[in-house]
Amino acid sequence: VCHLSLMSLSLSLSLALLLSLLHLPALCLAHGNSGPTKANCHPQSHIVFLKTHKTASSTILNILYRYGESRNLTFALPQNKHSQLFYPFFFASHFVEGVSTKSVREFHIMCNHMRFRKSEVTKVMPEDTFYFSILRHPVAMMESIFTYFKSIPAFHTTHSLDEFLDNSWRNYNSSVLNNHYAHNILAFDFGFDNNVAAGAEDLEERATMAIATIEQDFHLILISEYFDESMILLKHVLCWSLEDVASFRLNSRSEKTRHLLLPNTAEKIKRWNALDWRIYLHFNTTFWHKVGSVVGQEKLNKEISQLKELQAKLANICLKDGGAVDPSQVKDVGLKPFQYGAAIIQGYNLNPHLDRQMKTKCQRLVTPELQYTDHLYTQQFPEATLLHLPMAGAAPLPRHRSPP
Ligand SMILES: *[C@@H]1O[C@H](CO)[C@@H](O)[C@H](O)[C@H]1NC(C)=O
Ligand SMILES: *[C@@H]1O[C@H](CO)[C@@H](O)[C@H](O)[C@H]1NC(C)=O
Ligand SMILES: *[C@@H]1O[C@H](CO)[C@@H](O)[C@H](O)[C@H]1NC(C)=O
Repeated sequence: VCHLSLMSLSLSLSLALLLSLLHLPALCLAHGNSGPTKANCHPQSHIVFLKTHKTASSTILNILYRYGESRNLTFALPQNKHSQLFYPFFFASHFVEGVSTKSVREFHIMCNHMRFRKSEVTKVMPEDTFYFSILRHPVAMMESIFTYFKSIPAFHTTHSLDEFLDNSWRNYNSSVLNNHYAHNILAFDFGFDNNVAAGAEDLEERATMAIATIEQDFHLILISEYFDESMILLKHVLCWSLEDVASFRLNSRSEKTRHLLLPNTAEKIKRWNALDWRIYLHFNTTFWHKVGSVVGQEKLNKEISQLKELQAKLANICLKDGGAVDPSQVKDVGLKPFQYGAAIIQGYNLNPHLDRQMKTKCQRLVTPELQYTDHLYTQQFPEATLLHLPMAGAAPLPRHRSPP
């Protein structure tokens, strides 16, 4: 009897071992890129950031631009000086400048707006690329989108967000260009079909499929509501320094154009954007698990204070007015943020008394997305820039006035 039970014990043990071995490759894949431990910490410089809408992603873009520019890394920039990778079309590798002509040997960072399609991204980016993105609470996001994209057909004739939500299926025609902003925009940006009704039979199935695909394609999903926590987690996972993830908030709205939502409105948004809501809830949970396992609460709190201290110090040195100002008060055209919709996007003035080195550093911190993209393109493709240079010596103006 004893012999038998021992045997069955060893059998179940080896079964467990076998199972764990079977799971090992998956685990390695999931974690291989996601968190360099102290022992093998090596700064990651092959990066894809899926830039999502109204999620503080412009601030992350600036972080990536500065990181890459200061280390001479190569960006997978939109062809012909566009500001986006032909969003809202599905991404295709030839959208990237230098891919068709094979003029770029190696790309390090890809981070401009695209509708994600992994199979095409992998044609451009190296195999060991780290993929990440950021999500925002769908209720706050919808409020922001309604203000910013007020001119899209779905919102155009409605006076309030409630009015839109109460008649959403009447106001919203999914075949009309730009209406995707109004419905499950997160799912859309990640490359999924965003048109699914809250009561749809296949909602759960589609949400599960979307979540599983994102889990597979991305190493890290950050959460906009926890931006500081996100930056600390990112720093650890990429093996970067605190200074690398320090930033000033960019493409941010003035408080004047923010609207408080009623609880009832929030519920309607969760129903209307049911797919995004499920995706968000899932990745909010995995985000906190990752913060716990990679950083830990104590270190997290400590590093957030350090980050805030560093950012306050930088603001003190770099900014004339100590913080963000309305766009009409931004003196330098090169630093004026692009304005769109009914939102007022704030900008910064630089402190005029900076030495050359500090000025460069500060300038990079406050350069808005469109101007910075333009600048990087010019640096990376000086010949192409000469060909379609409109006015020599003029301040760099964004060529493509599609909303960032
Ligand atoms: C980047 O390139 C410039 C110009 O070629 C060079 O002077 C500089 O040292 C490089 N910086 C790094 C970090 O490699
Ligand atoms: C939705 O838009 C398409 C394309 O513009 C149009 O053909 C169709 O009739 C519209 N549907 C409704 C219900 O208005
Ligand atoms: C996200 O996770 C945090 C931490 O667990 C929790 O406090 C918060 O309520 C979550 N957000 C939502 C919308 O569930």
